[in-house]
Amino acid sequence: MQENKDMKTLKVELGNRSYPIYIGSGILVDRQLFTDHIKGKQTLVTTNETIAPLYLEKITAQLNSYNTATVILPDGEQYKTLDVLNRIFDALLMNKFGRNATLIALGGGVIGDMGGFAAACYQRGIAFIQIPTTLLAQVDSSVGGKTGVNHPLGKNMIGAFYQPQCVIIDTDVLTTLDERQYSAGLAEIIKYGLIRDAAFFQWLEENCDALMARDKIALAYAIEQSCINKAEVVSEDETETGVRATLNLGHTFGHAIETGVGYGEYLHGEAVAIGMCLAAELSRRMEWLNSADVARIINLIKRAKLPVDPPKSLSAEEFLQLMSVDKKNVDGQIKLILLKAIGQALLPMSVTDDLIRVTIESCSEC
Ligand code: NAD
Ligand code: GLY
Repeated sequence: MQENKDMKTLKVELGNRSYPIYIGSGILVDRQLFTDHIKGKQTLVTTNETIAPLYLEKITAQLNSYNTATVILPDGEQYKTLDVLNRIFDALLMNKFGRNATLIALGGGVIGDMGGFAAACYQRGIAFIQIPTTLLAQVDSSVGGKTGVNHPLGKNMIGAFYQPQCVIIDTDVLTTLDERQYSAGLAEIIKYGLIRDAAFFQWLEENCDALMARDKIALAYAIEQSCINKAEVVSEDETETGVRATLNLGHTFGHAIETGVGYGEYLHGEAVAIGMCLAAELSRRMEWLNSADVARIINLIKRAKLPVDPPKSLSAEEFLQLMSVDKKNVDGQIKLILLKAIGQALLPMSVTDDLIRVTIESCSEC
């Protein structure tokens, strides 16, 4: 593969709410990208206490021609709450920011989801820009306009669909990301191969070692392919009335793990990785995947240094209880995304509690 230092631009096609995704090395300090997409003269940069010392100044340096304020939130999934969200509204109000202010979300999925939701709500909607700084946020959460916060009874239960003005993906910021967070991002990358891109799944198998070594070219390719897949799905089904639900492969199990074990114990990507293994095993029990397919999936997930077994502290009954609170459920019936084949996900389907129970129990014994 040839090294290409040029910035790539993809597009999420949503009519008059279409927006670009910029991917490149060092583009965080490309002032033009900001000025092209900021509305008005007031900007609020929202970030957290871990990312602020690393990247906040680089961003504010690009914004010296605007009236810029910053809000630095505590770091962690456990702070993705309505209470903490209020601090963003406090900052906007204390600075007397109006309807034509722009919110810039600088961080991982937690900051992106909260910043986007604050932008959706403040004065019924202000512009926002996503600057994702984790691999997971770069390949998934920053694209597509799902924003929100958690509720103690369910993850991401309070939120809105609200699209950004643009997404600025600087691959250089990943150099400061630790190994565990990096692997969590790989889970969502593997997801795209599983749900709709068998060739990409095979590429991931062939290039997993390069990705684990953070080879720049392999990484840029994986981010780009993931964003292409995500942008296509979102362009087809923005508000998840159909195909977008397939992006939730493994997520119903995963959200149950995150909520059941306690927010912050398992990283979102880790919980999704386990969930994808459970969904693969369930798909085998439906006789769509064979044992060799399941082995390929588990093997790739393990090579990405991700967990594959459900936590022993959660019983199958607890899983079922937690899975009964999910946005895909209809009339209280659990609906799951399963795989017809590697590279082909099915729309949400009802699965009996018994089949879910036996799948969880068989995987817990591994
Ligand atoms: P995160 O936002 O908690 O970030 C992970 C950790 O990495 C944090 O401690 C953060 O401070 C740190 N960090 C971020 N960037 C860094 C950098 N460049 N260098 C060093 N440290 C850095 O977690 P995440 O995995 O990015 O996102 C998970 C969240 O995203 C969950 O809340 C999940 O529900 C949400 N999500 C949303 C969507 C969506 O479509 N909106 C999709 C997937 C996940
Ligand atoms: N991460 C799931 C979605 O964006 O729909």
